[in-house]
Amino acid sequence: MKHLLKMLDLSPEEIIDLLNLADQLKYERKHNIPHPHLAGKTLGMIFQKASTRTRVSFETGMTQLGGYPLFLSSNDLQIGRGEPVQDTARVLSRYLDGIMIRTFAQQEVEDLAKFGSIPVVNGLTDFCHPCQVLADLMTIREYKGSFQGLKMCYIGDGNNMANSLIVGGLKVGMEVSVACPNDYQPDPVVLDFAKNNGKFSMTTSPVEAAVNADVIFTDVWASMGQESEAEKRRIAFDGYQVNDDVIGAAHEEVMVQHCLPAHRGEEITEKVFEAHANEIFDEAENRLHAQKAVLVKVLGNHD
Ligand code: CP
Ligand code: NVA
Repeated sequence: MKHLLKMLDLSPEEIIDLLNLADQLKYERKHNIPHPHLAGKTLGMIFQKASTRTRVSFETGMTQLGGYPLFLSSNDLQIGRGEPVQDTARVLSRYLDGIMIRTFAQQEVEDLAKFGSIPVVNGLTDFCHPCQVLADLMTIREYKGSFQGLKMCYIGDGNNMANSLIVGGLKVGMEVSVACPNDYQPDPVVLDFAKNNGKFSMTTSPVEAAVNADVIFTDVWASMGQESEAEKRRIAFDGYQVNDDVIGAAHEEVMVQHCLPAHRGEEITEKVFEAHANEIFDEAENRLHAQKAVLVKVLGNHD
């Protein structure tokens, strides 16, 4: 594995391999077993959008692996003043061992990988959020034991989270159902993949999507960069809430997951959020372990 640019690039075997390594690294951390796989390596972390979890988990993860994380805000980089990504990629490849980038356009991440000569990890774009979904899959497997026979349901905006969950869920063999308003569907490339790969269904009814679900996901109605549409989106997503009705339609032992930050009272009720808080914060913790696995795979001497 050279880069982590999007879930579509990973084979099911690569996903399971990453999750196994993530479990092992989590075990080692819990038992204070050092794992300095990346001693002497430097990861540049470019952020063009805000972050709590991604920044802190990559930064501490890289440190726990014996490497050095370098936080690079686009406010301070020349890329923020228009230096082309082709040049940034070639310059940073001379200094760093790897780059993590959070930005808007997926093309920028793909170009960084294309023009640079070091591994690139996608820390979220408007199109996808693969690191989050690896942590999500890790959490599901932790709670449910395997993916066999499970149904994943996503309710809300057909955004970066929806795109990555659909691909990730189907690749590990889950049934995936999605409820989005007609004007806010997942990316056509993802829908094309979904229709041809596994058990996938789309509806505009959250309750219908949630029937017999083993795990329900949701995400904010207005993502980073869409702040000016917040009011319009509040209207468009009215009814696309993970609430008691949705939970009532699901499997008795349904898990609820949220990548966070959450907007209680919008995409999820306070009651449902708090009833599933343990699962949601385990999911947040697993960002650390899943990303360490990604870093070891792409920056270490693993294949
Ligand atoms: N879930 C997630 O990526 O969180 P941050 O935006 O805080 O990094
Ligand atoms: N869809 C959200 C996810 C945040 C982790 C966003 O892009 O802002």
